[in-house]
Amino acid sequence: MTTRKILVTGGAGYIGSHTVRLLLDQGYEVTVVDNLSKGYRENVPVGHLVEMDIADTRRLAAVLKESGAEAVVHFAAFIAVGESMREPARYFSNNVCGSLSVLAAMADAGVRHIVFSSTAAVYGNPHATPILETFPIQPVNVYGESKVMVETLLRWFDEIHQITNVRLRYFNACGADPQGRLGEQHEPETHLVPLVLRAVESGQPVTIFGDDYDTPDGTCIRDYIHVNDLARAHIQALEYLLGGGTSDAFNVGTGTGHTVLEIIRAVEEVTGRKVPYTTGPRREGDPAALVAASDKLRTKLGWKPQYTDLREIVRHAWNFARKSKTGT
Ligand SMILES: NC(=O)c1ccc[n+]([C@@H]2O[C@H](COP(=O)([O-])OP(=O)(O)OC[C@H]3O[C@@H](n4cnc5c(N)ncnc54)[C@H](O)[C@@H]3O)[C@@H](O)[C@H]2O)c1
Repeated sequence: MTTRKILVTGGAGYIGSHTVRLLLDQGYEVTVVDNLSKGYRENVPVGHLVEMDIADTRRLAAVLKESGAEAVVHFAAFIAVGESMREPARYFSNNVCGSLSVLAAMADAGVRHIVFSSTAAVYGNPHATPILETFPIQPVNVYGESKVMVETLLRWFDEIHQITNVRLRYFNACGADPQGRLGEQHEPETHLVPLVLRAVESGQPVTIFGDDYDTPDGTCIRDYIHVNDLARAHIQALEYLLGGGTSDAFNVGTGTGHTVLEIIRAVEEVTGRKVPYTTGPRREGDPAALVAASDKLRTKLGWKPQYTDLREIVRHAWNFARKSKTGT
């Protein structure tokens, strides 16, 4: 069998770097394109990184041709919801225009498949939970809207250039490489698990936004998915497209929700330390519960989460946090 060649945008970032490791482990030939605006050089094995911006369509088309890529996994984007509401132009430009450039380069280079990092934020405040892929698309922030706009671009590039796509709508990515080589290190960090771990380390309290929701303990429920389970969904999506599958959207979540307090308890169990926290008011636009219906991904792509124990997910994140701090 010939080696499959894949180009990964944003492969120096959190989810991209885990996916790149898994692709390499499974024998794929991988070229990473990343401008390192948010990612880390050391996240990419030596010899695989092309340092460039995805907005450079001409150069990207040349890299696609040189690498012989048959498919693209497109992670590169800005990801912070709050920031997107303060700087919409920057978000639309990087996320939408950047993706348009990726698609134009693919059309030029004759690359026919793309797996795209979409998000549960496309559903906004859904009318029910668990959330099905058929629920209305009604984003409530610029970040979510930017992903909807790219999903629209994908439809037209399929229709006109026969570029087939899988849109993976992730829920809350968390955890780290079980061997501790990679992990989550966003700056600024906005995700719960690393924030709680930072609170444990620094003694500075983490804020819980609202404890009066209609949930068992009053705090918000989210669907926490281990980054390696997420990475595997990309490989299954690639295999589906390379095998002739048609364009489709899939939720990627475990189908089980956990409250903020459950995360805090899991961190306390794993670290053996008390988590300092304070409770603040609700954040505007934060729904009480966001949990994925992931049956479609399970039945159509044969995916199943491997990490369903919250403590195991937290343990991997904690191992990475300690390792990066001590530099070991
Ligand atoms: N982390 C989550 O929980 C989550 C949830 C839903 C969706 N997503 C999506 O998954 C993708 C990856 O998220 P992440 O958490 O790994 O983010 P990340 O910030 O760690 O990684 C993004 C990577 O893209 C690179 N990048 C950004 N703009 C670029 C550009 N113009 N040219 C080249 N490289 C560029 C950054 O340098 C970074 O390495 C994003 O598209 C994000 O919207 C993430």
